[in-house]
Amino acid sequence: MALFVDTHIHLQLPAYADDLSAVLERAAEAGVRACIVPGLEVESSRAALTLAERYADGPCRLYAAVGIHPTEAYRLDAAALRELRAMAAHPRVVAIGEIGLDDYWPRIPDRGWRCAEPEEQREALRRQLDLAAEVGLPVILHDREAHEAILRILAAWVEAEPPKRGVLHAYAAGPTRLDEVVALGFAVGVGGVVTRRKATAVQEVARSVAADRLLLETDGPYLTPVPYRGRRNEPAYLPLIAETIARLRGVTAEAVGTMTTANAVRLFALEGCCDGVKREREGSKVEDESERLALS
Ligand code: NI
Repeated sequence: MALFVDTHIHLQLPAYADDLSAVLERAAEAGVRACIVPGLEVESSRAALTLAERYADGPCRLYAAVGIHPTEAYRLDAAALRELRAMAAHPRVVAIGEIGLDDYWPRIPDRGWRCAEPEEQREALRRQLDLAAEVGLPVILHDREAHEAILRILAAWVEAEPPKRGVLHAYAAGPTRLDEVVALGFAVGVGGVVTRRKATAVQEVARSVAADRLLLETDGPYLTPVPYRGRRNEPAYLPLIAETIARLRGVTAEAVGTMTTANAVRLFALEGCCDGVKREREGSKVEDESERLALS
């Protein structure tokens, strides 16, 4: 059976409040061994950590990321930063996120909620990148219509010691600048959008990105894959995403699961999770080798 890690799902949101146990049971049945739950501001970061403590064991384990989403960047005052730093020391916290830049929402008039201005967002991103470097955690980045600016900030960030790691989640910047992302040492997260017929740029990314830089994510409750669009997204749909990527790359869904799970375990240091993956991977290496020998 294929194994998966959902590297981005907001299970702390009200959308899952009534049936989280059932959601996690279905996830485990679909082969999803672990989920990473990113924060959006301090309160939802705390809620993510509470879930990660409650579901530290079991067939689908939860891990937390803590951080302030770019549209909420005005909330990053000294007290918030202190609280994020304290939470980041907890062993169930595996990343700082989701952080980043969103240049889409500030341009939308009459949106009816306060969105952080681009300058506030850039300041909050830099401060949270500094926090990640300080605590030695990878980052989960939200990048919406701000790709140039994100790459500029990341390029400066990765230059200084210590070595940096992270993922551009729901990667939507297309294949043209993928080389730069990979050169900076970052991974890309691909989710339900890849299953949409017209999403050719995301499909090209999923097809061509280096195998060791690809992560799977649902971004639930949003971005539900085909054929469930319009419903709440959940981790049990991850195999649909893997199957689409498998077709694009000409491999099996199991192979996509194995490689992306290994990438997630490595990037987020998911101790104790997905122990079968290494064994399966070693097994498949032997198989590949014997196939090659049989052909030659
Ligand atoms: Ni998200």
